[in-house]
Amino acid sequence: MLARLRGFQDLLGADARAVSRVEECARAMAHRYNLNEIRVPMMERIDLYQRSTGETSDIVSKQMYLVQRSDESQGKEAMILRPEGTPGVVRAYIETGLDRGDPYQRFFYWGPMLRYERPQKGRYRQFHQFGVEIFGRADAACDAELMLMIDDLMRELGLAVRFEINSLGCDTPDCRPRFRAALLEYGRAHWDELCADCHQRLERNPLRLLDYKIDADRVAASAPKSLDYLCGECRAHFDTVKQILSQAKVPYVVKPSLVRGLDYYTRTAFEVVSADVGSQSAVAAGGRYDGLVKELGGAPMAGTGFAIGIERTALALLARGYQSEGGPDVALASLGDAASLAAITLGHDLRAQNLRVEVLPADRKLKAALTIASRMGAHYAVIIGDNELSRGVVQLRDLRASVQREVSIAGLAAEITSSARS
Ligand code: HAM
Repeated sequence: MLARLRGFQDLLGADARAVSRVEECARAMAHRYNLNEIRVPMMERIDLYQRSTGETSDIVSKQMYLVQRSDESQGKEAMILRPEGTPGVVRAYIETGLDRGDPYQRFFYWGPMLRYERPQKGRYRQFHQFGVEIFGRADAACDAELMLMIDDLMRELGLAVRFEINSLGCDTPDCRPRFRAALLEYGRAHWDELCADCHQRLERNPLRLLDYKIDADRVAASAPKSLDYLCGECRAHFDTVKQILSQAKVPYVVKPSLVRGLDYYTRTAFEVVSADVGSQSAVAAGGRYDGLVKELGGAPMAGTGFAIGIERTALALLARGYQSEGGPDVALASLGDAASLAAITLGHDLRAQNLRVEVLPADRKLKAALTIASRMGAHYAVIIGDNELSRGVVQLRDLRASVQREVSIAGLAAEITSSARS
């Protein structure tokens, strides 16, 4: 038996349907918010992620899946299987010249991401994200609009979520650099209480100290907070974001310890938490990254976005008792040679009316065929024998209500759609 890799999933049945439901609703939301699809590759150069997600982030320092080309004659080249979508989208935005030619862009994307993480429920090594990235908008209204998108989507899915928000400030000297210095000072004062990992983090990027997992609450409670170091503009930006969220009745809390594990964020950062999915409760996260386009070689350009974890959102949906209609509207059971041929055409006609139809194999006894239809979750069975066929009728059996009646073939589709609606 060749088992699948640890942390990788096969999804089928209700699990696959819940994932599809999240994807469909996300696409519909993207349409309502005038977002345009962008498709970028699964594989990128490593330095793209080193320069964006950040060398000190867990994603780049511990969780990358590297691919090495085996064509030795061309020299070796190592590439990364994308752990997140933002860097690739920013690269594409710059590479297609949009940053200079047509900078205001509203993108959405979807796809598998890979991170070498310790697997558990809601945390996988391959998972899917539905992401949004907006370029050319520096205003706070745009940050708030991203959260409205997520709120809209979660409402449509029937999920209750809470937004945790923070501001990480900007790179002007009287803003984040002061916060960074304060964290460094704090870290040095608490050196003996920190792990070896944190010692390294502190020297290379003091913000990573706040990702400290071993004693996160204590560090979060006593370490300096970015909100206490914001410059006037960043403070006003954050106030406007909060004001819009309150006005739109989006449930949020300010979480001063939230820094996010990726390096590119400036100003607004947020996570979206569901009470339905256990310890891996962040179903979406995002924020502003005003320095990233320039950092990756583009024009100075505002950027902001988020990504939804599709599997985690689907888990929340299933935990809420989501039930999808997995079965066909109609299963056709035929008895006799002429009827089995007629069933194929009849199935074709019913599908043209947008009904979901299964034409059952003709070699079964009626009882066996009806058992298959019930097991599939069919709403109706249509039984067609040679005798019925010669009279232009079929037996229509409602498998859920266990009632059966004769109806004309000509009126069958209308009969099914009207009874299904009533
Ligand atoms: P992230 O917080 O790393 O942000 O991931 C976003 C979401 O992806 C998480 O909230 C979670 O739902 C899901 N996710 C992450 N890792 C896993 C995993 N191992 N298994 C299952 N689900 C997972 C980003 O990726 C940023 N690119 C978001 C962003 C877009 N920021 C600005 N634009």
